[in-house]
Amino acid sequence: AQHKLRLSVIGTGYLGATHAACMADLGFEVLALDVDAAKIERLAAGNLPFYEPGLEEVLRRGLASGRLRFTTDFAEIAEFADVHFLCVGTPQRDDSGAADLRYVHSAVDALAPLLTRPSLIVGKSTVPVGTAAALAERIAAAAPAGAEAELAWNPEFLREGFAVQDTLHPDRIVIGVRDGRAEALLREVYATQIADETPFVVADFQTAELVKVSANAFLATKISFINAMAEVCEATGSDVTKLSLALSYDDRIGGKFLGPGLGFGGGCLPKDIRAFMARADELGVEPALSFLREVDAINQRRRARMVDLARELVGGSFEGAVVGVLGAAFKPNSDDIRDSPALDVAAKIRGQGARVTVYDPAALENARRAHPDLDYADTMLAAASDASVVLLLTEWQEFREADPNVLAKVVATRAMVDGRNALDPERWREAGWTYRALGRP
Ligand code: UDX
Repeated sequence: AQHKLRLSVIGTGYLGATHAACMADLGFEVLALDVDAAKIERLAAGNLPFYEPGLEEVLRRGLASGRLRFTTDFAEIAEFADVHFLCVGTPQRDDSGAADLRYVHSAVDALAPLLTRPSLIVGKSTVPVGTAAALAERIAAAAPAGAEAELAWNPEFLREGFAVQDTLHPDRIVIGVRDGRAEALLREVYATQIADETPFVVADFQTAELVKVSANAFLATKISFINAMAEVCEATGSDVTKLSLALSYDDRIGGKFLGPGLGFGGGCLPKDIRAFMARADELGVEPALSFLREVDAINQRRRARMVDLARELVGGSFEGAVVGVLGAAFKPNSDDIRDSPALDVAAKIRGQGARVTVYDPAALENARRAHPDLDYADTMLAAASDASVVLLLTEWQEFREADPNVLAKVVATRAMVDGRNALDPERWREAGWTYRALGRP
């Protein structure tokens, strides 16, 4: 069915490209904008600038239907759309951890003066609480008289690797609005999801903004909780994977995000908890979030522990050691290396004098660009070749299924450190490997 509402999406990174393609798939006419002309050219030709399972087909379907188009011209989207989705990035500003809002501001500043008809701007970017209220004023000041420009906030919870599924079938939709017109428009935009009984939470601006950062803070806390237990397990000879399994059967706890290992990375969790702490400082409620400092510290300690374990296995020093690294992406099924625990560990080990060769099924190109100091291999076996220790740092299926007997033939020493608790220890030990893992005896 063709919808009469016309949408624009501003910013075609991970979030925006996914949102634009999925909304076109649902029947909306969508015009997506980015200031990066090369990116727009690629997308308009049906090529994704990043790796995301299933998204390229949706993109191509949208292009073929004629409902999905791309532009770099703000005037064109101002003219075209009833609803504008703001999907630009909010990176970490500096060491303070605070969010950098320059892309949000420049998008709004470019769009608002061009609006000539009733328009709803919907913020999806992750922002510090209080941003929407300030943006509403900024829009009101910049929009021409007569253009009824309104703002709503609609945080996005999609995970990389599941972006299409999470957009079409989200766990919940949260909107922050100031009046009924914005809510009615968003109910129209999300009619399909609402018909699927997706919970729909209507809140004010501040609450909607907070939902997003507090959700990520909770997830990060859950991961660091189990990784803190892993530290205790290491001191007591307990097995954190059994512990996690046993905890997961309590419905109140649940097994998701309770996977112990090298901890969290990526473009969201680490930056979002730091921005949240920085915002709490500004709001004068620093103590309320001081536990997140600990969450961050636990997460960093896992990386250090991984380096220590690997060093132990090569005899106490990395000087002259050959280390094979499996994984560079911050998580499997992604080519994203932002704040990747795997590359952080690899770089630290390289810094201590080892020759480090990295293999990843999708992220090699990105890793090469960011870490030219490391060596790279095009296959798992090549990365493990002559290694005195092999490290599994991102739990790709290919590594989970690796045959210890095949790998044994190429390494110098059968030593494996499983940073993601992804392998079966018995299978590897039976094949003659020294197997070590985080949080396990
Ligand atoms: C996350 C949130 O899940 C998503 O809702 C939000 O919109 C953006 O941030 P994403 O960054 O795609 O999504 O990654 P996610 O799948 O959440 O994984 C985050 C990190 O946690 C990864 O590095 C992963 O390896 C790690 N992780 C996850 C664990 O260490 N253990 C777990 O049990 C789960």
